[in-house]
Amino acid sequence: MLSTLGLLFPLFTAVAQANVEKTIFLAPEPATIPAGGPDLDDLGLERLSPERPVVRTRLNASFPTSDAPRGTESWFFLENLNPGQRYEVRVCWLATQPTSFTLTTYPLSTAIEDTALLSSLSMYTASRLAALDPQLQANSIPRGASLRGSEDPRDPAPTSDSVLFLRVHAAADYFSAEQSLMHNVPPVAVDLILDPFLFNVFPRSLVPTAGWTVVVAVLAVVLGRWIVKEVGRAVNDARRQSALEEMKKK
Ligand SMILES: *[C@@H]1O[C@H](CO)[C@@H](O)[C@H](O)[C@H]1NC(C)=O
Repeated sequence: MLSTLGLLFPLFTAVAQANVEKTIFLAPEPATIPAGGPDLDDLGLERLSPERPVVRTRLNASFPTSDAPRGTESWFFLENLNPGQRYEVRVCWLATQPTSFTLTTYPLSTAIEDTALLSSLSMYTASRLAALDPQLQANSIPRGASLRGSEDPRDPAPTSDSVLFLRVHAAADYFSAEQSLMHNVPPVAVDLILDPFLFNVFPRSLVPTAGWTVVVAVLAVVLGRWIVKEVGRAVNDARRQSALEEMKKK
């Protein structure tokens, strides 16, 4: 059963989800989040967690250049992950805005130790915090004011948590006769979805789809056998008929 699913699954996703790009990863062991100093909350990143698995937002995009071959970067923060569990993050966007996305996850330590990553991350958070677009900020309100805040007014950030940084590159992938569209790429409306894998095998949200695929496949086999049988019988009947007629003639 599982192997049938495994065979059908790639087929199905390739057909049904043309505008999805994703990355699959294992949640890391909990990392100690440095207490004091600049708080991760102050980065103003949008967060994804198993409790809040969908973020609807707009990402800046640009045409690829030699400096930025994969387009414009955006950063997100994945938190409260279940260590060792397999997850995927998908980005879904409209076909009307042709864009190519690249998703990469980085453990806390990597993002902080790699100077190139760190400077890209700080540039992103700086421009995000400067813009202070209430819509963009909606998902990154400081912890004290968030849903968890109601339990404890001070609500300290967890000191140890399975977390990852997510970097999303967005490169415009179209040609337009309209000059303004070629000079200024409009931000791309996207859904970012964090999806845990069931038994580390299937994205949980796609399990109903996979179930249907199996039902359809089984039906197809049953129907196929029935058709072969019926056709075979019709052919045999026809043969017998013509044999009888031959005999009558003689
Ligand atoms: C997105 O692009 C706009 C317009 O160029 C800019 O003002 C803004 O800072 C950018 N946002 C981020 C997070 O880089």
